[in-house]
Amino acid sequence: MPDQVPVKVLRRSLGQVRHGICIADACQPDMPLVYVNDAFLAMTGYHRDELIGFNCRVLQANDDQQRALKTIRSALAARQPCRVTLRNYRKDGTLFWNDLSLTPVFTERGELTHYIGVQQDITAARETKSRLQKYQRQLRALAHQLIHTEEAERQRMAREMHDQVGQTLSLCRMQLGQLVHDLGGATAHPTLASACKLVESAIQETRALMHKLSPPLLDELGLPAALRWLGEQLAQRYGMAVEIDAALPRSPAIPDDLARMVYRSARELMINACKHADAQSVQVRLSLKARQLVLEVTDDGRGLPAQPKTDPKNGGFGLFSIRERAEHVGGTLVLRRGSGQGTCAVLRLPLPPAGTKT
Ligand SMILES: Nc1ncnc2c1ncn2[C@@H]1O[C@H](COP(=O)(O)OP(=O)(O)OP(=O)(O)O)[C@@H](O)[C@H]1O
Ligand SMILES: [Mg+2]
Repeated sequence: MPDQVPVKVLRRSLGQVRHGICIADACQPDMPLVYVNDAFLAMTGYHRDELIGFNCRVLQANDDQQRALKTIRSALAARQPCRVTLRNYRKDGTLFWNDLSLTPVFTERGELTHYIGVQQDITAARETKSRLQKYQRQLRALAHQLIHTEEAERQRMAREMHDQVGQTLSLCRMQLGQLVHDLGGATAHPTLASACKLVESAIQETRALMHKLSPPLLDELGLPAALRWLGEQLAQRYGMAVEIDAALPRSPAIPDDLARMVYRSARELMINACKHADAQSVQVRLSLKARQLVLEVTDDGRGLPAQPKTDPKNGGFGLFSIRERAEHVGGTLVLRRGSGQGTCAVLRLPLPPAGTKT
């Protein structure tokens, strides 16, 4: 169908578009502007006669080393359209961010005659975005600090339990043992025998609680041994087969906080496999590849739901917390279908550069 819109309607329409529109003559030297609409004037603060006949670079002021300008120059040279975001300046010198689409205009015979620019002031959107990014960074730092504080508090509580409650109970057990001995054996004194049992189970419970709060093996024997111990505990508690393959080279040493991160993540991922997928067996593999600690937890459970929970208020804090910690140190957590039906979670944590104090 032939173009039936009269030229004056086209002109009126362009004039009333809310985006800034300008047209430059590509046949004249230095490509002067030949048309600007009212929105363009409102955006830039110039009068029409201060722009018509001049090149659009008036909006760049002295800020002429931007990457976006290189993109524009290459597009002009190739007679291609382009879209860039660039810093421009109003007549009063204030900066605005310009989302500019530049399109070459050709005749039917393919001759380039004009360029049309459509532009939008996106300063407010950019400021909102950068404020949001700043909040995100602050939130992430806060989350990390919280996790760090929680870890320190766990260790403190475990230490106090060991030094206070644990010691008192041990003393109590010793004294009861002495009493049993002095009274000629526990069989003659059922209440005493029962008290001994109670103290013994209090000692076991305190120890279990201490281990939960802060796994002592981690400091004493290192990450692989602690993971093997954890595997045994969870296998017993949840009645699933747990296989741990965690042989790390002696060097480089794994910093304490990374070791704790791996330990806690392995625990969460193994419990998830049992809790959510009814897994019968879980395999845990820990390796060091190119200065990256890689923890893989694979289960044979029913697999991830289509939409795993992500709202920490209603559960779903476990994976969120692992991911947050990982990303804070430049690592990643990825969950995917296992080779069978189950799930495979892969946590990657980069070791800090050699020589960094931990
Ligand atoms: N191994 C898995 N197999 C199947 N689904 C899983 C597995 N691990 C996680 N999920 C799914 O991902 C969701 C989020 O797990 P996440 O650990 O973040 O939270 P949660 O275990 O539900 O609660 P929380 O860890 O805070 O106690 C789970 O609710 C579950 O639907
Ligand atoms: Mg969980």
